[in-house]
Amino acid sequence: MGRLLIVSNRLPITVSKRSGILYYEHSVGGLATGMACLKHDNQVWIGWSGLASEKIHAKDDRNIRTQLEKQGCAPVGLSSADIRDYYYGFCNKTIWPLFHYFPYYCIYESKLWQRYERVNARFCEAVLDIAEPEDRIWIHDYQLMLLPQMLREHLPEVAIGFFLHIPFPSFELLRLLPWRTEILRGLLGADLIGFHEYDYVRHFLSSVHRICGVEHALGTLTVDNRLVRVDAFPMGIDFEKYAHARQNSTVQSRIDSLTRKMGSRKIIVSIDRLDYTKGILHRLEAFDWFLTCYPNYRQKVCLVLVAVPSRTRVESYADLRRQIEHLVGRINGTYGTIDWMPISYMYRSLPFEELVALYTVADVALITPLRDGMNLVAKEYIAAKVDSDSRGVLILSEMAGAACELSEALVVNPHDKERIVEAIVQALEMDPREQSHRNRQMQQRLSRYTVQRWAHDFMESFEQIKAQQKKLASRKINRSIRKQLVESYRQARRRLLLLDYDGTLQEFVSHPERAKPDAELLAILTRLCKDRKNEVVIISGRDKDTLTEWLGDLDLSLVAEHGNWIRKQGAQWRCVESMVVDWKTIVRPIMELYMDRTPGSFIEEKDFSLVWHCRRSEPDLARLRTYELRDAVVHLTENMNLGVFEGSKILEVKSITSNKGTAAEQWIRQEHWDLILAAGDDYTDEDIFAVLPETAFSIKIGQGGSRARYNADTVTVMRSILRILTGTVSETDVSDHG
Ligand code: UDP
Ligand code: G6P
Repeated sequence: MGRLLIVSNRLPITVSKRSGILYYEHSVGGLATGMACLKHDNQVWIGWSGLASEKIHAKDDRNIRTQLEKQGCAPVGLSSADIRDYYYGFCNKTIWPLFHYFPYYCIYESKLWQRYERVNARFCEAVLDIAEPEDRIWIHDYQLMLLPQMLREHLPEVAIGFFLHIPFPSFELLRLLPWRTEILRGLLGADLIGFHEYDYVRHFLSSVHRICGVEHALGTLTVDNRLVRVDAFPMGIDFEKYAHARQNSTVQSRIDSLTRKMGSRKIIVSIDRLDYTKGILHRLEAFDWFLTCYPNYRQKVCLVLVAVPSRTRVESYADLRRQIEHLVGRINGTYGTIDWMPISYMYRSLPFEELVALYTVADVALITPLRDGMNLVAKEYIAAKVDSDSRGVLILSEMAGAACELSEALVVNPHDKERIVEAIVQALEMDPREQSHRNRQMQQRLSRYTVQRWAHDFMESFEQIKAQQKKLASRKINRSIRKQLVESYRQARRRLLLLDYDGTLQEFVSHPERAKPDAELLAILTRLCKDRKNEVVIISGRDKDTLTEWLGDLDLSLVAEHGNWIRKQGAQWRCVESMVVDWKTIVRPIMELYMDRTPGSFIEEKDFSLVWHCRRSEPDLARLRTYELRDAVVHLTENMNLGVFEGSKILEVKSITSNKGTAAEQWIRQEHWDLILAAGDDYTDEDIFAVLPETAFSIKIGQGGSRARYNADTVTVMRSILRILTGTVSETDVSDHG
């Protein structure tokens, strides 16, 4: 097993130089504090040290590298221009506001985008410098969304995981970004993509569908013939560290000193990085309103407001700081007295001991972000209450990812000032038994799903998707399997070729009538038919007239409508059974209703089936309507001998007395074949694979489970296999990807 390479913009340690002295401090933010709790035996963390590379003297550089290496970190150098245009620019003036639903804060500048690309490429080089094929690479957060695909291009087989620590916005927001396609393609280079919650997964999958045209099946996508898994992994905390922090004597003495200072006053805490997404101004306005509406609480309550400096060179952050400080001043000026200030304000980052002491003494935590990927502070507050009889009340914004797991908190809309005030009063007056009851339920959950468990689950899913990819790869047609086939083909005196048409010999197109065989396909089929040792059968779901028009002049057999019609070589079309088609008068009006309600969809009528096509419709609407139509038809035709089948962007209703398998059997049983080759791409072809003898050579086009023995990636690969068999290309001229 290789190493774990963690890659994030910022290392868990930030280096700074003040008055000629180098300082090494813990980085701020949930990514760094959360991930820092995890220690993999064999881990390297690759990221930026926090200093601009041209400001580091050669002597310091060696020093910094040695210090960081001791802590398992490998620094990536960023110049001042990189920091300006990539970090302060594209990351924090474009992606951060957009993904947190602040589109009016976004700037869209190609210069910043180009720098983002360049810095991602720099990280790629840094990873390539140390990565070995067996390593697992785990990339974190929005600063490095192009990196997965960049690495994939250099290391096609390596295991790449990606976790986004911020929300993934809905398609309506993402579409504003001029580089949305590049961002999605970048992410899709990973094998596993994780988000904090299912809503973000949903948004991501829907954007991939709409923008890249790739559909998922239960969270798994097939991208360039590689499986990519997308899932939710809500990040937890190091529960024990917070739950029993009181046992640490420094923490206990901080608690004692705070308790002495605050006396009998109730403490409300508010702790965040100073960021507009955190809703600090809205919170202060609500606190102001609370003091206006409830004068009896004045003197009795103190709000401890901790704002951790963050991204200070971004104007919106600097503006916000001014506004917060102005508002704090106004509130303190309005209500404060000589012996009481309503707000105790700190603009700095607290070390663990002070932070946890504050959590412990706080009667209420007021955490009301306007949007937040997760919010670990809320979880830490609840965990820190274990040793205090679980007393304390959490008021939490419904816009924080953590709200999904902390439903026993007082959950509020951060824009609803009245409701926040009501929640503050409710919290201050809540019966201590109720406080403990609510908190214990949350503590139980947090103690089970810790940050360690989160990382373990992510790594386990990572292994699973790699194993699944490996299994598929072993079924994939490669040079040696092709050789075996060619050998058996050469030796066989009688061969049966059962070939599906759409998706196997011909690519799907948006208008099915345009999938006519091209010159290359006609040449392949003509050559196959010319060989007297071959019996070629095209087994299709298409109607017999189309097949006659397209392939009728060739010396082969045709099966239409999934086995309902058969035209043996040189004979006439024959209906397999005379089937009752009265059901069409019942089903057609429903299909027409769905056609009218779904722009771009249309109905195809075959002799024994009706097909609703939605390839040209808006994908999400098409999916919804397909479910609805299937339900409606299944319900209506319960007692009829009908099958309702969902294919690639179609829903087909047909009589089910025959299928492609029953049709194929007519040839399979006809004589002894030295070689049977069958190829197909969808569920209807599985009926053929099911009736084949074990010795048959069966191929599914595309990924996914199948009864076929092998997978070929694309129609192109399938065609090249047939071209090798006909001798028009040599085996060595063909790659595994066609
Ligand atoms: N934190 C800290 N000192 C402080 C304030 C916060 O160490 O003075 C830590 C806190 O323990 C938490 C992290 O910073 O783990 C903040 O993470 P969160 O997910 O709440 O927000 P983010 O900053 O990632 O948006
Ligand atoms: C959030 C982001 C992290 C980031 C942190 C601190 O938690 O998700 O990626 O590291 O904020 O921000 P900074 O810009 O200082 O790295």
